[in-house]
Formats: sequence, C-alpha cells, structure tokens
Amino acid sequence: MQQKPPGRKRSVSKTSASWMKEHFDDQYVKQSWQDGYRSRASYKLLELDEKDKLFRSGMTVIDLGAAPGGWSQVAAEKVGPEGVVIASDILEMDALAGVDFIQGDFTEGSVLNAVLERLRNRPVDLVMSDMAPNMSGMAAIDQPQAMYLVELALELARETLPPGGRFLAKVFQGEGFDAYLKELRGSFDRVVTRKPGASRARSREVYFLAEGFRG
Ligand SMILES: C[S@@+](CC[C@H](N)C(=O)[O-])C[C@H]1O[C@@H](n2cnc3c(N)ncnc32)[C@H](O)[C@@H]1O
Repeated sequence: MQQKPPGRKRSVSKTSASWMKEHFDDQYVKQSWQDGYRSRASYKLLELDEKDKLFRSGMTVIDLGAAPGGWSQVAAEKVGPEGVVIASDILEMDALAGVDFIQGDFTEGSVLNAVLERLRNRPVDLVMSDMAPNMSGMAAIDQPQAMYLVELALELARETLPPGGRFLAKVFQGEGFDAYLKELRGSFDRVVTRKPGASRARSREVYFLAEGFRG
C-alpha cells in the first residue's frame, strides 16, 4: 500500500517536492489509502471494468507491468478464488493473495516462458499490460521503448488468447501509435480507446481494449 511520507523533515529538490505535493494531494492517491489499494492505477482498471465489463469470476488473467500491484489486486478480487491471476514485473512485488507473481524483464524470453509454464495450456480470458519504461522525458528515447513493451505484450496475447479473448494495453500517443492500432485491428474484431478519469490529462497514455481475438 502507498505510505504517507514519515514526519521527518529532510530537504528534497524542487522537482521532487512538487511531484510529492501533486501525488499526496491527488484524490485517487487518497482514495487508495482508504480502500487499501497499492496504487492509484487501481481506479483506472475499476473504471474500465465498470464500462467494459472486463472481469467475471473464474477468469484467467495475465497482468504485465504489475508492480506495485494495484491492477493485480482488482483482478484477483474480481476473478475470485476460482480464477487465476498471473502477474509479472521487472520490479519486486509484495505477495498478494490469489496472484502468482513472476519477477523479470519482459524483454527477456525467460519471462514469457515462465508465464507460459504457469499457464499450463489453460486458455486465457484477458491479457493486460500497464507496462511503461522509466521515462527520461525525451520522446525519442521513451516512445520506442514503450512501443517495444506493448508489442511484446501483444505477442504474448496472440500466443495465449483463444479466439474471442481480450487484450487491454496502455499505449503512449506518439510515433508508432497509429501503426499499433492498425495491428490490433488486424487481430481483433473490435478495438476501443479509453482514457479513464484516473489517467492524468497531461499524460500521453491511453488504453486500447481489443476484443474478439481472431485466433
Ligand atoms: C505504471 S506501472 C504499473 C502499475 C500497476 N499496473 C499497478 O496497478 O500498480 C508500470 C510498470 O511497468 C514495469 N516495467 C517497465 N519496464 C518493464 C520491463 N521491461 N519488464 C517488466 N516490467 C516492466 C515497471 O516496473 C512498472 O512497475
């Protein structure tokens, strides 16, 4: 769970101070403390679920870029004890009931293999990717890295989804965005773009929900 900073007074740079002020003033951050969610990102997924009915009990879900676990918490709650949530991140993540976590860099084949192993050929209902690289602020560096991660997520979706399956991915507007949307439209019957309320207006991120995998 996100922790408020301790009372100690230590100096931070102006940029960090303004980031911290924005973060701790944020309504979704405050709400996440109350609701016991590990990140404000939970509210993006809850809103998407409300609108698009993403989850049912007993589903099998893959959560890529899962740390600190906000989406995994929502997914595990929604699929219930009969469901399966396999989550992965390059960072460590504290254990969560009902979530099978694999730590590793998704650009390495070993993580894909570990996910496939855990699935044991079980059909997947929903593949989700909230992966985002560490942003340098330079679009020429950040955008290709972000597009590469979401391309790999789509490859995993194509490998694991049965016909009719769904794929949800965070994509940053910029170079490669339109081509990616076209690629999704080639593999799925329907693709919609979503910008949940908890996604900051200034962020170039949007979510693509692709439905009806053609197999
Ligand atoms: C926006 S955060 C995800 C938040 C998460 N969905 C939640 O609800 O708490 C993006 C995540 O992508 C992960 N990530 C970035 N590059 C990665 C990579 N190469 N392999 C796996 N995860 C990666 C980051 O470590 C980070 O945890």
